[in-house]
Amino acid sequence: MKTIIEPFKIKSVEPIRFTTLEQREKILKDAFYNPFMIHSRDVIIDLLTDSGTSAMSSEQWAGIMRGDEAYAGSQSFFRFERVVKKITGFKHIIPTHQGRAAEKILFSILGGPGKYFPSNTHFDTTRANIEFVGSEAIDLLNEIGLHPEIRADFKGNMDIEALEKFINKVGAENIPLVMLTVTNNSGGGQPVSMENIKETRRICDKYGLKLFLDACRFAENAYFIKKREKGYENKSVLEIAQEMFSYADGCTMSAKKDALVNIGGFLAMNDDELALKCRNVLIVTEGFPTYGGLAGRDLEAIAQGLEEVLEEDYLKYRIRSVEYLGEKLIASGIPILEPPGGHAIYIDAKGFAPQIPPEQYPGQSIVCELYLQGGIRAVEIGSVMFGKYDKDGKLIPAKLELVRLAIPRRVYTQSHIDYVIEVIQEVYQKRDKLRGMKIIEEAPMLRHFTAKFSYVD
Ligand code: F0G
Repeated sequence: MKTIIEPFKIKSVEPIRFTTLEQREKILKDAFYNPFMIHSRDVIIDLLTDSGTSAMSSEQWAGIMRGDEAYAGSQSFFRFERVVKKITGFKHIIPTHQGRAAEKILFSILGGPGKYFPSNTHFDTTRANIEFVGSEAIDLLNEIGLHPEIRADFKGNMDIEALEKFINKVGAENIPLVMLTVTNNSGGGQPVSMENIKETRRICDKYGLKLFLDACRFAENAYFIKKREKGYENKSVLEIAQEMFSYADGCTMSAKKDALVNIGGFLAMNDDELALKCRNVLIVTEGFPTYGGLAGRDLEAIAQGLEEVLEEDYLKYRIRSVEYLGEKLIASGIPILEPPGGHAIYIDAKGFAPQIPPEQYPGQSIVCELYLQGGIRAVEIGSVMFGKYDKDGKLIPAKLELVRLAIPRRVYTQSHIDYVIEVIQEVYQKRDKLRGMKIIEEAPMLRHFTAKFSYVD
C-alpha cells in the first residue's frame, strides 16, 4: 500500500521559531514548569491540544468573508443550523462560543445539589460545570478502558451494568441526564461503539432518562465505527453520525474539535421546554439565539468545517497520522495507551517513569522533559488534572497517569511527527533521570491550568 498523504496542499504558512536547550531551561523555569504558562512563540511543536488549533480550509476562509453579521436572523446562522440539523437531526440548535458555554447553560438549568450526571468519562470542563452547580459528575467507564496496555476496539464505552446499578442506587429522579463523550477524550481518545450507544439508550428508556452526547469528536468516533464495528463498513460516515445522534435527546458540542474551527460550539436538543430555558440563559450569557457567542463569520466556518470533517479522505488521513505516531512509539518500546486514539496519543506515565510515585506527578515530569529536549508542548492528564485531596489533605491520585500528545487537525506534516518521535525516544532512553515534582501553588478548581510546580529535592 502507498503512503497515505495529507489530502491538502498548503497555501499559507506560519513560521516556527526554534529555541535552544539553554533558552528552554529558562523558559520552563519562568513558567513554573507548567506548559500552560509557556508562550506559544517559545514552542516548536505544539501538542497541548487539538482544540481550536485546526487549520481552516480555503472554503472556510471564504465563508469568513461571506459571514452575515446581522444581530438577528443572520443568513450564516441558517446555514449553520441547516448543517447541524442534517447531521444531528435535533430540533433546536443553539450556538455558543465554545463547548463549555453549552455545558454551563445545560447544567445550570438541569443541575443542582443532590443531582447526578453519569457518563462514560466526563471531560474536565464538563465535570467542573456539573460540580459548580453542586451536582456530582460520575464516570462509569468500561473496565477495559482502565487498562492502557490492552488493545480493544471500543475502550471508550460506558459500563452498562454499572450505569444501571448506579441508577438504582441514587434513583432515576435524581439523574437529569446521562452523557456519552464521543470519542472519550479523558479516557484516551477511545471510541464508543454504536452497540454501546444503543445499550445506553435502552437503559435510559427503561428509567425514563435523557441521553446527551458530548459530541466534540463525533466524526472521528463515526469513522472508528465504520472501520471497527460489524455492519457499518459500507455506510457513509455521515450516515453513521446520523445514527449515533438518533439515539440521543441532545448534545453539547465544541466546534473547536470536529468542526475544524478556532472558536465555536453549540447545544442541541429535541425537548421544546428545555430549549426555551436554554435560550433564555443564552440571551443573558452568550447572545441572541441566532448568533450565541459567535460572529456570523464563525457560524459560516463551522458549517463548512462540519461538511469537510465528514469527508473520508480527511478522516482516513487524520486517524492514520495519529496511529503512525502511536505505532512508532510502540515499536520503540514506549508505553502508550493502546490502541492509538482518534485525536491524540497518550503516553502511559506510570510505565514510562515507574520510579516516580503518583504523588510526585510522573506525567508532569515527562511533559517538562519533552519541552526541554525538543520544545514539544504536551499536557499531563493524570493526578495533576484529576487528582483530589482527602480530608487530611492527602492526594487521591487519578486512575491513570497519562501524557497527552494531541494532534491539531491539518496542521503538522509527517516530518513534524517524525521529529516528535525522535524527541520522545531520546527522553525515553534517559528516563532514569526523570525526577518527581510537587505543586507549590494551585487554584481550587481546574488547577492544572494555573498550578505552579517545582522538582522535589
Ligand atoms: N468536552 C470534551 C470531550 C472536550 O474535549 C472539551 C475540550 C470540551 C468538552 C470543552 O470544549 O474547550 O470548547 O469549551 N477539550 C479541549 C482539550 C480543551 O484540550 O481536550 P471547549
